[in-house]
Amino acid sequence: MNKEYLNKITNADCLEHLKKLEKETIDLFLSDIPYGICLDDWDVLHNNTNSALLGTSPAQNGKSGFKRRGKPINGWSSADRNIGKEYEQWCYNWASLVFPTMKQGASAFVFGARRTLHRVINAFENSGFLLKDVLAWKKPSAHHRAQRLNNVLENRGLKKELKEWEGWRLGNLAPIYEPIAWFFKPYKITITDNILKNKVGAINVEECKINGASPTNLLEFGYAKNEIRIHEAQKPLALVEFLIKLTTKENQIILDPFMGSGTTAVAVVKLGRQFIGFETNLDYYEKSLERLKIKEPKYKVSEDLIQAQLFFEKAAQYKKRNNQESRI
Ligand SMILES: C[S@@+](CC[C@H](N)C(=O)[O-])C[C@H]1O[C@@H](n2cnc3c(N)ncnc32)[C@H](O)[C@@H]1O
Repeated sequence: MNKEYLNKITNADCLEHLKKLEKETIDLFLSDIPYGICLDDWDVLHNNTNSALLGTSPAQNGKSGFKRRGKPINGWSSADRNIGKEYEQWCYNWASLVFPTMKQGASAFVFGARRTLHRVINAFENSGFLLKDVLAWKKPSAHHRAQRLNNVLENRGLKKELKEWEGWRLGNLAPIYEPIAWFFKPYKITITDNILKNKVGAINVEECKINGASPTNLLEFGYAKNEIRIHEAQKPLALVEFLIKLTTKENQIILDPFMGSGTTAVAVVKLGRQFIGFETNLDYYEKSLERLKIKEPKYKVSEDLIQAQLFFEKAAQYKKRNNQESRI
């Protein structure tokens, strides 16, 4: 039941717990899920054991760029071609458990990779969700390398070809945006009747204006100067806050089964909502609790109490501070 999970990050595999959540109780699903691009061990979601994955082949020794890139996009074997299908199945395994927990009309924001998001969309649609839009998060910067083709040709001693390929490069354009799929759970009545009944399904544009203008589906958010950076895939707090404010009211419940460094939990606490979260990695879990300023995270005994108490203390602090600020 939800009480066991409310306002705490549970250090466990979400697949074992999602089925225990109460039906039709979640007001928003918001998660930066593993993208299935082999970024790290937690992002390898298929049975392919090719040694080049995560830079473990001898040829990749000491080559950090190659290591992070993992493998060529076109794949090296038939097993590589299954990576996408197996990632989709993994997404379906948990998305189909999330679907019953959501209120009708509730939104689901799923961060994904440009190359694998279609798999997530298939898994969510097959679980019962409908796709509303694909938002673009414009990042403050992008890692990018596109090698000059002429440098490669020169290294190969192909002088004759240099003129023809002047200005051409190997690679792609600077990947400056990441997609966020926006789904909703279908409802059986009209949208307005559903909003009145379930309190979800509308968007709070007034609260989310950017420089006085209504937001568009291009979201430009960066990290605050003093924002603690823990996770290699960490998302800016301001971006997550924006999505929460856009679709929920105070006290409503946000589910994030892939918490990482706890960005969603921090945003939720700041905005006076409630959360349910999971994270398998003990290190990230502990760091996320530190981010939430919870002591002795290793001890499970009084964790519920500590977390609930902290949640309400923080919510009260923020509320007080916001009230003071709005009076200035
Ligand atoms: C992309 S990261 C989330 C980063 C997060 N948005 C942040 O700002 O820190 C995804 C996280 O999901 C966790 N994870 C992967 N599989 C999981 C599972 N089955 N249950 C719970 N957590 C899981 C990984 O350990 C990883 O930290």
